[in-house]
Amino acid sequence: MPGGRRQQVHQKPKDTKATMKRILKYLDVYRVKLIIVFLCVVVSSVTTLAGSYMIRPILNSVVGGEGIGVLVRNLIFMGCVYAICVVATFYQKQVMVKISQTVLYTMRKDLFDKLQTLPVRYFDGHSTGEIMSRFSNDIDNMGNMLDNSITVIMSSAISFVGTFALMVYTNIWLTLITVLMLPVMIKASTGILKHSQKYFKSQQAALATANGYIEETISGQKVVKVFNHEEIAKREFSQLNKDLREKQVRAQFLSGIVMPVNVNLNNINYALNTVVGAYLCIARGFDIGGLAVSINYSRQFGRPINELSNQMSTILSALAGAERVFAVLDEQPEKADRENAVTLEHVRGEVILDNVTFGYNPDKVILKNISLYAKPGQKIAFVGSTGAGKTTITNLLTRFYDIADGRITIDGVELRDMKKDSLRSSIAMVLQDTHLFTGTVMENIRYGRLDATDEDVIRAAKIANSHGFIKRLPKGYDTVLEGDGSNLSQGQRQLLNIARAAVSTAPILILDEATSSVDTRTERQIDKGMDELMKGRTTFVIAHRLSTVRNADAIMVLEHGEIIERGNHVDLLQMKGRYYQLATGAAELD
Ligand SMILES: Nc1ncnc2c1ncn2[C@@H]1O[C@H](COP(=O)(O)OP(=O)(O)O)[C@@H](O)[C@H]1O
Ligand SMILES: [Mg+2]
Repeated sequence: MPGGRRQQVHQKPKDTKATMKRILKYLDVYRVKLIIVFLCVVVSSVTTLAGSYMIRPILNSVVGGEGIGVLVRNLIFMGCVYAICVVATFYQKQVMVKISQTVLYTMRKDLFDKLQTLPVRYFDGHSTGEIMSRFSNDIDNMGNMLDNSITVIMSSAISFVGTFALMVYTNIWLTLITVLMLPVMIKASTGILKHSQKYFKSQQAALATANGYIEETISGQKVVKVFNHEEIAKREFSQLNKDLREKQVRAQFLSGIVMPVNVNLNNINYALNTVVGAYLCIARGFDIGGLAVSINYSRQFGRPINELSNQMSTILSALAGAERVFAVLDEQPEKADRENAVTLEHVRGEVILDNVTFGYNPDKVILKNISLYAKPGQKIAFVGSTGAGKTTITNLLTRFYDIADGRITIDGVELRDMKKDSLRSSIAMVLQDTHLFTGTVMENIRYGRLDATDEDVIRAAKIANSHGFIKRLPKGYDTVLEGDGSNLSQGQRQLLNIARAAVSTAPILILDEATSSVDTRTERQIDKGMDELMKGRTTFVIAHRLSTVRNADAIMVLEHGEIIERGNHVDLLQMKGRYYQLATGAAELD
């Protein structure tokens, strides 16, 4: 079962013209610089042609015995022409790379900024790897095109036309030979390439499969080891590896023989040119210098075409990449605040859910007719089995998702009538999935309130019972956490997340299984801190262990998206229903 996530195989762009237009829009601001690049390309291409043509007068002056003076003059002239060519090439490269890297910079910025505006829903449907590859593969492909393709196309076009003109000017018969040979050479190489395209595709697919398998095995290394799957993994990988080898051999062989075939055809052309040219020299008074440059041109003539066809694949993958980047940029951002959306001030924390119905997908209802009333400062608990919809309720309170039916109000104002920033700054939250950023412990806790002083942070850490273990870290509060805090235990990560919520002064607090990975003893220790954390705040707490919700003002028992029982601990026990079963161990929370 190799690779769940497949690498993107080279794709053809769907709407080349529109994508091209959009890329050009990015280039539009550099119009003047692009004109400079264009002029440089013209200069370097023309000087290359002129330089190669200088062979003719030079050779002729030697053969004709025109003396050393003429020769030196011609040589110096040729030297100057090439010097100009070098300067123009240098300058063109420098300007172009700067333009293209700035375009990539802008694209990365647009893309990142866009991601910050996308609704949570977007991230439900797109894996991290997939989004990351917009930044890596796709933007890289565009970089390849912008860095090189544009100038190569310009210079190839000029060289092609220029060489042809010079050939005709030098000798029409020799030109004819090359022009007749050219289609044969093109046909041969495109024929082979077309054939190899098929193998390239299967090579890419095999590569993606093998990579997927490697990725899966590395990220699941512990599972592989504990279930003794090493040998099986080796065997399976070896099979994929073999498959990859076979496909690569075929693809590489075919693309490898394009070159020799071309060289041979080129040699035939070369021989024909030489023979006919020599005859023309002897019988028709064609000059030796002319023969030399003609032979040279006959070899060079096909090169621009080769260059262009090489650029084609770069351009196609760049366009496909651009298309994928633009697709993200075109995603619907999180709904903007209503025009007259209000900013909440001095929130008391009265939260009302009135007949709320919601489903992540319209056709599958997850929450049904949820109603509840939380007075400012009350503690409301949700209990219920996994998948009952507890986290979903918190997702609605923070407006990560909009409700389909019903009303949610804070201090009497409906969620959709208030500014999102204002709503979210009224809520502190400890998510079920903890998250720490790369940075020091201090910075990670301060994420909850950026203007918190060091003392505030330490007080928050003490509330979350994490001061002790933070002190024991190598650099205490200045210890840098990396990789989502991979050097901490899951429980410690949760405590830091609680500290982050504790440093915030938001009037509404949501704790989603905030202590699920903390042992009971530590949990008892933070109980006091938790009480302090919740003091004066409306708190929604989802808990794994019933002991932590016992003192809630109201406990909601959720089952399949419905509140089936509600009341305080004592009431619920008397009801002898589901809660009673849970509390007495007749039924278990999973
Ligand atoms: N992002 C999502 N997209 C679609 N369905 C989801 C999503 N998150 C949760 N669900 C579904 O919603 C239901 C409730 O999930 P959740 O609220 O997370 O349960 P829990 O009570 O364990 O916190 C589950 O059936 C789950 O499959
Ligand atoms: Mg949950």
